[in-house]
Amino acid sequence: MAFPEIRLRRLRKNDSMRRLVRETTLSVNDLVFPLFVRSGENVKEPIESMAGCFRFSPDTVVDEASEVAALGIPAILLFGMPAKKDNIGSEAWAEDGAVQQALRAITKALPELLVITDVCLCAYTSSGHCGVVKDGRIDNDYTCELLAKVALSHAQAGADIAAPSDMMDGRVKYIREVLEENGFKDVAIMSYSAKYASAFYGPFRDAVDSAPAFGDRKSYQMDPPNARQALAEIAADIAEGADIVMVKPALSYLDIICRARQRFDCSIAAYNVSGEYMMLNSAAQAGLLDRESAMLEMLYSIKRAGADIIITYFAKEAAKQMQKSK
Ligand code: PBG
Repeated sequence: MAFPEIRLRRLRKNDSMRRLVRETTLSVNDLVFPLFVRSGENVKEPIESMAGCFRFSPDTVVDEASEVAALGIPAILLFGMPAKKDNIGSEAWAEDGAVQQALRAITKALPELLVITDVCLCAYTSSGHCGVVKDGRIDNDYTCELLAKVALSHAQAGADIAAPSDMMDGRVKYIREVLEENGFKDVAIMSYSAKYASAFYGPFRDAVDSAPAFGDRKSYQMDPPNARQALAEIAADIAEGADIVMVKPALSYLDIICRARQRFDCSIAAYNVSGEYMMLNSAAQAGLLDRESAMLEMLYSIKRAGADIIITYFAKEAAKQMQKSK
C-alpha cells in the first residue's frame, strides 16, 4: 500500500489524536534538578553565567529543595564550592563542608527527596583539575582513593546516590568498595560514564570556579569524535558496580544515548549541561525562539534517544509546564 491509502497526516489531525499516538512521554519523574552550595549563611547568589540559577548556603538550599520536592521532582544533584582550595582538594571530604552540611539539613527536612551528590575534586583543587596533579600529570589511582573518601563523607551525611564526575579509571570500584566496607550498601552510584571533554561546560565552570588553572581535561574526559569508546566506558562502570550510567553532555551526544540504550539494560541518565541551557536562554532572551516549546523539544529529544533520567537546569520550569498541560 502507498498513497493515497497511506496518509500519515491522519494521526496528526488534532491534539487528542497526537496525544493518543505519542511515542515518547516526558514526566516529572524523569527529572533531576542540580543545585549549587557554598559555605555561609543566608546566601542566595545569582549565577551570572546561568540565568535563573543560584549559589545557596546550607540553610537556604533547604527552601529551594522544598520547592523542588513540592513540584514532584524526585531528586536533586548537589554541587559544592569550598571556602578554600588546596592541592588535593581536601575540603571535598570535610565533615563540615558545604555539601555535607547541606545534605544533613536537606535529608532531615525532606526525607522523601533523593539527594545525589557530585563526587569530584575540580572545584576543590588549586589546579582546578578533577584529580591530583603529580609531576604535571593527573595521578589516577591516588585520585580514586580521595574520591572514595568524598563519596563516603557524602554517604555519612545522608546522600542517596554518589555521582562521580571525574572520569578517572576505576573510581566506581574504589567508591563501591569503600561504601560496602562502611555499611553503606544501599547508597547507589550514578557514574558520569561517558563524559566528554566538552566546550558546553563553560557556564558551569564559571558558576563553581572550577576551570583548570593550566591545560585542559582531555587526558581524562572523552574525545568528542568517539562513540564505541563511550560504550566501553559504560561497560566498565557497570562491571565496577555503577547502578546508573550517564552520558554527558546530552544534545551533541544523542547518538551515544541511543547506542547505550540499545546495548545496556541499566538505567541511563543524560546531563543537559550548562552550555545547552545557556544557549537556549540566550536565544530566547534575544527573542529568536520560544523558550518553553524549545525547552520541551530538547527534553523530548533526550528522552526519545533513550535516557531514563534527565539532569537539567530546566527541571523546575519543565515540571511547572507539565502540571499545566495534559
Ligand atoms: C565536575 C563537573 C562538571 C560538570 C558537572 N560536573 C564540569 C567539568 O567537568 O568541567 C558540568 C555541568 C554543566 O556544565 O552543567 N567535574
